[in-house]
Amino acid sequence: MAKLLTLEKILFSQGFGTRRYCSDLVYADLVSVNGVLAEDPDAKIDPEGIVLTVEGVDWEYHEKAYIAFNKPANYECSHKTRHHPSVYSLLPRPLIERAVQCVGRLDQDTTGLLLLSDDGQFIHRMTTPKKNIGKVYVITTAENVTQKQIDHLLGGVVLDDDPAPCFAKVCTQIGERQLAMTIVEGRYHQVKRMLAAVGNHVAALHRSSIGSYSMPDDLKEGEWRWLYPAELTLLAQSIE
Ligand code: URA
Repeated sequence: MAKLLTLEKILFSQGFGTRRYCSDLVYADLVSVNGVLAEDPDAKIDPEGIVLTVEGVDWEYHEKAYIAFNKPANYECSHKTRHHPSVYSLLPRPLIERAVQCVGRLDQDTTGLLLLSDDGQFIHRMTTPKKNIGKVYVITTAENVTQKQIDHLLGGVVLDDDPAPCFAKVCTQIGERQLAMTIVEGRYHQVKRMLAAVGNHVAALHRSSIGSYSMPDDLKEGEWRWLYPAELTLLAQSIE
């Protein structure tokens, strides 16, 4: 059975403002549903698969928001930023109103794949240390990479805040000063500290995939896109 919701509730659920404001948007002729101008905020609609147009901007209905974002350098993954603007400043207002949160964080100078969601259970499943989900980082190093360093990363590195070593699950040299490294944990500054511990230094860091989801080739820096059920299934299957 289709779940019917009033248009006002649908707009509210998508982050377009208070219910009163959403209702006013409809009365002001600023909302279309699948291209048809809406007249009644109390009209009951099956929201699955609809496209709203609000103040001229198309918006797919998603009951929960699952977002892939290509993080540029010099943005912080925080609402309360210290030195740089927030990644949230690059997202549209409805996503902010829905309180999407970063699924784990990238450092201010790290670029690449960041997931965001307003689904607390999803965020928990993806970030809990009990679930090992591989994250691939492309690392540009300050010094040439040696085989000894790769062996050390694969064999386990002890960081100063925890006697338990952390391991690279995969570590492949892709250039004189470039590695692709997969890690399953998410400790603070983990990649940078692992590289420092083996006697090298991270000059640039880019996350290219999380589990079996890789950064889409056409997702430019600063851009975001919805994740769809097939991609979410892939992500769920990546959790060991
Ligand atoms: N490891 C780091 O050192 N920094 C990141 O941003 C992510 C992983």
